[in-house]
Amino acid sequence: MSVHSDRAPSPVAAVVILAAGEGKRMKSSRSKLLHEIAGHSMLSYAVTAATTVQPEHIVVVVGHLRDQVEAHLAEIAPHVLIAVQDQQLGTGDAVHAALGQLADLTGDVIVTMGDVPMLTGETLVALLEEHRARQAAVTVLTAQVPDPTGYGRILRDGDGMVSGIVEHRDADDSQLEITEINSGIYVFDAVTLRAALTEIAPMNDQGEIYLTDVLTVVRGAGRPVGALLIEDLWQTEGVNDRIQLCRMNAEVNRRILDRWMLEGVTVVDPATTWVHASVDLAPDVILLPGTSLEGATSIAAGARIGPDTTLIDVEVGESAVVTRTHGSLSVIGSGASVGPYAYLRPGTTLGAGGKIGTFVEAKNARIGAGAKAPHLSYLGDAVIGEGANIGAGVIFANYDGLRKSTSSVGAYSFVGSNSVLAAPVEVADGAYIAAGSTITGNVGPGDLAVSRSRQRNVAGWVARKRAGTKTAKAAEAAQEQEEPS
Ligand code: UD1
Ligand code: CA
Repeated sequence: MSVHSDRAPSPVAAVVILAAGEGKRMKSSRSKLLHEIAGHSMLSYAVTAATTVQPEHIVVVVGHLRDQVEAHLAEIAPHVLIAVQDQQLGTGDAVHAALGQLADLTGDVIVTMGDVPMLTGETLVALLEEHRARQAAVTVLTAQVPDPTGYGRILRDGDGMVSGIVEHRDADDSQLEITEINSGIYVFDAVTLRAALTEIAPMNDQGEIYLTDVLTVVRGAGRPVGALLIEDLWQTEGVNDRIQLCRMNAEVNRRILDRWMLEGVTVVDPATTWVHASVDLAPDVILLPGTSLEGATSIAAGARIGPDTTLIDVEVGESAVVTRTHGSLSVIGSGASVGPYAYLRPGTTLGAGGKIGTFVEAKNARIGAGAKAPHLSYLGDAVIGEGANIGAGVIFANYDGLRKSTSSVGAYSFVGSNSVLAAPVEVADGAYIAAGSTITGNVGPGDLAVSRSRQRNVAGWVARKRAGTKTAKAAEAAQEQEEPS
């Protein structure tokens, strides 16, 4: 047994995250733990909470769909240890597998679960403090819930000390009345835990090795078992099906939006506004209905986003306006304007005060300060200088069927409407391109490029070829007005 006299600074020996279960009710080919809440996997929340207590080791117990879970962990948390539980013989067996990765462990071990995403690191710290203050051998996180169906119930003796936990399916009628439930989150003394696990047999309805039976063993040996009752019920809630996933996602989103509103962000309609945990917002940002901000998106002060806008990994500058837009991996400068109905694909950067307007698609496009492409354009692999004006319907034709090439338009140049720039071409600073041109060669500074056939009018054609039509009559009337006979 390791009881520390100097408790406060001693680090946590390990956090064990149980994540081997099947998650049957998700009905998914994807591991339950990889399903996301506010843009991050459920498992990543468990790892983040574990990291808060700065343990010497984090062990994740994997089993069902372990290839997926291990690949994900290698990406988000390469420092964690993996313990494999081949058969899911119960939570006690899972912890036993974890201890197999932690030889000679002494001190405090926290056990949590991979599918309880709202549990915070602060709660784990509070649980640890309670455990250490009471010098307990085990401390369990509990909650009083209105409907305890399915949960293990906390049994207390005459003094109010926890004497054990009984699973719902193993409980008798009076035990079923108990509304204090086991969250499945605990602190154990490592040596006590290892010893107690050897004494547990699968003596229950499911034939499983229950971790909860450790508490009975420890209490039977006369050792103190503590409990911390938590008020925020969401923190003990597990996700087992897609209804719970949806509800919890909404709750996490609600809390994220509340936090931003208190920081000075206006959210017009929280029910249709979704902001991932990783997003950064500044004061006086306005989020209009139907806005979804994801990944590493950041919005600077005073910008107005929405309605009906999705931004993924997009940086938006101060006071920019982004309306009915879908954007990813792009940068929108301060005071710039985007949309309505714009599509920003990866690599788009729009300079300060610039404009990407209605039905404009941009990809790998560097657009200078104050430059404008207001209507109906495709800006693919484009470099557009400061103050340039891209007329309606201009196409940067960047793909010749084999390779993509870049075209550039210099500062303060003017590309007439419905022009095509067949890449690669360079249009210099201060140049003009006549409307309707197909540009296949470079244009020098100050030049006007015209690349279209000259206009020819065939006089009297309508009267000859469309005689008697309304068009012909309109022509006749117009001619009479012009030259009254
Ligand atoms: C468990 C607790 C119950 C508690 C509830 C809280 C036991 C016996 N019961 O019940 O008292 O109220 O959690 O949600 O511990 N797992 C493994 N390997 C296994 C079995 C489970 O890794 O062999 C993992 C699961 O992936 C899951 C967690 O352990 O993350 C809990 O397993 P689950 O089967 O959901 O336990 P419950 O029956 O809900
Ligand atoms: Ca469960």
